[in-house]
Amino acid sequence: MRARRWLQPGLAFAAALPWIAACDFTGPQSALDPAGPVSQAQRDLFMWTFWLSWPVMIGVFGALIYALWRFRARDAQAAREIPHQTHGNTRLEIAWTLIPVILVILVAVPTVRTIFATEQRVTAGEGDVAVHATGYQWWFKFEYPDLQITTANELIIPVGQRVVMSLDSADVLHSFWVPNLAGKRDMIPNQDNQIWFTADRVGTYYGQCAELCLGAHAYMRFRVIAKEEAEYQRWVADFQEAEGRTAAAAATGDALIDRGRVLTAQKGCVGCHVIDGFYPGVPVGNPDFPSLTNFGLRTTVGAAIADNTPENLAAWLRDPQAMKPGNYMPTLWTADDPNREAEIEAIVAYLLSLGREPAATAQLDTGGDHGRQ
Ligand code: CUA
Repeated sequence: MRARRWLQPGLAFAAALPWIAACDFTGPQSALDPAGPVSQAQRDLFMWTFWLSWPVMIGVFGALIYALWRFRARDAQAAREIPHQTHGNTRLEIAWTLIPVILVILVAVPTVRTIFATEQRVTAGEGDVAVHATGYQWWFKFEYPDLQITTANELIIPVGQRVVMSLDSADVLHSFWVPNLAGKRDMIPNQDNQIWFTADRVGTYYGQCAELCLGAHAYMRFRVIAKEEAEYQRWVADFQEAEGRTAAAAATGDALIDRGRVLTAQKGCVGCHVIDGFYPGVPVGNPDFPSLTNFGLRTTVGAAIADNTPENLAAWLRDPQAMKPGNYMPTLWTADDPNREAEIEAIVAYLLSLGREPAATAQLDTGGDHGRQ
């Protein structure tokens, strides 16, 4: 009978084991898997505080359990008696005042030092990458003022260089958070907030909005892609040639891409979305919507909620609300529109050709590699 009493909690523990075992410090969005000095400092501070709390927990729970056991009522007679009462113990009182004071100092000093080291305001100088990020419901705009580049939901950075970002919001509160690289920082309308970090290794780091901003908040994501210097410079060059690339996409002579370009205008895409070079010399779109310039080089769609594949892009165009409920992208076709699928296919072909070199676009038609990383 005694064994049965332990059966249920035992089974529950066994069932929880796989989840406990899956707790892991590494991960695409883990603050405990730092990829740069800022997140490393934050992790170090966390681990220091974490280990420091262990002796406290063992001491407090140890004393509690000891007292419960040592002074338990041993029999019915003892249960009726008031045990021996004690008042005052100078040595104990000094100890339980001094020890917490020391512990608080041990936590406070490194905390304040880390805050000052990682959150001080800096000025972007030589060798830094300056970026201005704006939060919108529900996407991120990234502008590189020194490079005249504007992109959306993907922050491309060179590895080993400090990125100094000014943060702003166009509407409500958002928060910029990419755990592997830096802590989170609010994006507040009309307040010039700042965050800076460095990526020590090449990779894709997952970020998301960390401030409840209604609607599609949960789908307001972004990626930080750290590239080797040469790769980064190539990406910059790709953007500085964007107008020419867009014109080249229009001149491929590919019937599908060409039809896609016409539909991109007819369906009203360029009423909202900027595409540099769409009409040579004439700007299209509104900078308060995600830019589609060089969209073919983008790795995600819908503010980083899905990979930028022809299938996902088609699904996004077909029913944006199904993929990201609440977002502002309208549905451009009725479900019974007989031309829907053919038109989606053409727009997908056109958008994915943007920014690619013509050879890469030709490859796209054969179902080859899409999206250079
Ligand atoms: Cu933006 Cu939540």
